[in-house]
Amino acid sequence: MKKALSLVLAFAMALSLVACGGSDSSSAAAGGSSAAASGSGAAASGEQPVAGVCWYNFGDTFIANARNTLNEAAAADGTIKVIDADSQNDVATQTSNMNNFYTQGVDYLVLNNINNNAIAEIIERGKEEDVTLIFANTNSPTDEEFAMYDKVYHVSSVATQSGTIMGEALVKYWNEHPEMDRNGNGKLDYIMLLGIQGHYDTEVRSSYSLQALADAGIETECVQETICNYQRADAQNQVASILQARKDDVDAVIACNDDMALGAIEALKAAGFFADEDSYIPVVGVDATANGVEAIKDGTLLCTALNNPVILGNSVYKLMTLLNEGKELTQENLGMDGVTVEGHHININYIGITADNVEDAAY
Ligand code: BGC
Repeated sequence: MKKALSLVLAFAMALSLVACGGSDSSSAAAGGSSAAASGSGAAASGEQPVAGVCWYNFGDTFIANARNTLNEAAAADGTIKVIDADSQNDVATQTSNMNNFYTQGVDYLVLNNINNNAIAEIIERGKEEDVTLIFANTNSPTDEEFAMYDKVYHVSSVATQSGTIMGEALVKYWNEHPEMDRNGNGKLDYIMLLGIQGHYDTEVRSSYSLQALADAGIETECVQETICNYQRADAQNQVASILQARKDDVDAVIACNDDMALGAIEALKAAGFFADEDSYIPVVGVDATANGVEAIKDGTLLCTALNNPVILGNSVYKLMTLLNEGKELTQENLGMDGVTVEGHHININYIGITADNVEDAAY
């Protein structure tokens, strides 16, 4: 425990902490909410290092899995206490959750950041508080921003790979299925479903998927690009309305995650696709969530890219335990498969998943 706090302050915190803490009372996150609720708990007791984790949205499928893993790792190991809070996809809520964690005197702040315009400010504040900052599953600080403070880390998947995996799956399908060009214009006409605006994964997955098609010499045309915030329902609604206007022009759907791909598939089914072999239309996504994998198996989702939430959650926890022991972050010290350590970055690799290797999606 880095800073001793007065019990009075901790008690005041307990009264104000409604946005913080876990929703699942059986998980270690509930330890989080009870630490928050009691105020005088571990974060103020000096017994155990404490990590405050700001997840952007507890309701996000991928994030829920990563959160579970991190909380389970903490509960099983017991070295570092993990408490967490839901930013509810709202920058102001994230800021208030971060402030609450600082007030509690956390040692580590793990930030699934959505305030991408404020990375330098966030680092400045972390430095003032002398807290180790771990940016997780979010945009990386720039080199200049890393240089501001030596206790900054970044743990995330290599988004470029996921974009390329989606694009290459479409290249293969296009080359093997001339009928994919439904309106016969010689171009691959696509709908692009974007996640959160400005999120690195959104930008890179969309651009690299298109780049793979361009690299293969395939001409593309965007029927519509639309922000669906990684949400299934948004994607379903938006694809339904695009299909009403341009059903005959769509050759494929590129979705920046599986939840949106699954929403698109629902809308496509409602519009008459996937009824038989002739009404198949390729949809690609990212994550290999349980439902995404089911869709690969049932033949609706063409391809996804395994974005491993277990590796994410475990990497974050392992990193904190290493630092807690005064060890450096190196590939060897981290000892995790499927990741590459570069300086203060832990880069998690994707695996392309199709019907041919669906068993590789296990985690
Ligand atoms: C995942 C998405 C998730 C997003 C949240 C991405 O890496 O692929 O499914 O919604 O992170 O930040």
